Amino acid sequence: MTSPGKILLLGGCGFIGKQLAYALANQGWQVTVPSRRPHRNRALLVHPNIRLVEGRITEAEELQRLCAGQRVVINLVGILHERRRGDFRRYHVDFIKTVVEACNNSGIRRLLHISALGADQAIGSSLYLRTKGEGENLLHTFGQRDLKVTSFQPSVVFGKHDSFINRFAGILRLYVGLFPLACPNAKLQPVFVGDLVDRIVGAIEDRNSYSQRYQVCGPEVFTLRQIVELIIDTLDLPVKVLPLGNGLSRLQALVFQNLPGKLFTMDNYRSLQTDNVLTEGESCPTSLRQYLRGLAAMFGNKSSYDRMRRNFPRSEEPEDTR
Ligand SMILES: NC(=O)c1ccc[n+]([C@@H]2O[C@H](COP(=O)([O-])OP(=O)(O)OC[C@H]3O[C@@H](n4cnc5c(N)ncnc54)[C@H](OP(=O)(O)O)[C@@H]3O)[C@@H](O)[C@H]2O)c1
Repeated sequence: MTSPGKILLLGGCGFIGKQLAYALANQGWQVTVPSRRPHRNRALLVHPNIRLVEGRITEAEELQRLCAGQRVVINLVGILHERRRGDFRRYHVDFIKTVVEACNNSGIRRLLHISALGADQAIGSSLYLRTKGEGENLLHTFGQRDLKVTSFQPSVVFGKHDSFINRFAGILRLYVGLFPLACPNAKLQPVFVGDLVDRIVGAIEDRNSYSQRYQVCGPEVFTLRQIVELIIDTLDLPVKVLPLGNGLSRLQALVFQNLPGKLFTMDNYRSLQTDNVLTEGESCPTSLRQYLRGLAAMFGNKSSYDRMRRNFPRSEEPEDTR
């Protein structure tokens, strides 16, 4: 197979990035994945078309060096919580400028970017969403003539290594009785990581996708409560959801954001104040309900999560396929 060329994945060691790296490598792309901690991501090296390199991509010079000789760049760098004040701006806005500059200086003509559903510089309900929107606007403003850009706005993404379903599953396993759930009526339209990856891969060579911003959602709209109840059902746990009202949801965020691990922050709370659902474009096919049913059928309903973890230790888990 002739290779379509060299492609650089920024944030390629993350949940979505890894799936994308394998999909691109399977299509013959020569994929370079820089990482701050390559030793933690050695599983990527099983594919001969993937090169894992150590690199501090937020340093302009280093990024420029990594861009040399690449044909396409895809940016997946993003954070859900700030460790230091200003991190959202640093990684969602300033970093975009660095990426666009590095692409322009290296003669790269194609840049794809993963934003988030609801990203809006002006009216995003949280700092996460506003900075995501600002970064996306920057990208589409500066990357026009020579650099062809496309951005993707997924709703919450699910798959074997996600930090959404897995995180809830991990917490719910520790509960017996009532589980207090903040923002139970928030609406989400979860999308399967494999579907998102298909959309991204399909857009790389598609001229119609130049300058486009695509919303990417699954087939069904759920409330957060319905999703949590689905997880409880799948894992057959002795837990019932206790839906919290607005005041207690805020209070939970205020408390949790000061605990280690930042399970839920005020910014997350604000993000959940707007519906995270498709308003234009077509939805993707894979249903969260079917996906969870499939897991239960594969591993047995009782303690299926435990069995999945036992049978597939993290580094050896098979990747998401349909
Ligand atoms: N997952 C979702 O449900 C979802 C929904 C909507 C939008 N998105 C967006 O999709 C993108 C990918 O999401 P994901 O779930 O795959 O996230 P993830 O697993 O947390 O991966 C994020 C990637 O960004 C990199 N990164 C973060 N901070 C960095 C820094 N300071 N310097 C260098 N690299 C840094 C991480 O590198 P390391 O591996 O070195 O830590 C990681 O590879 C993000 O932009 C996210 O906002 C995700």
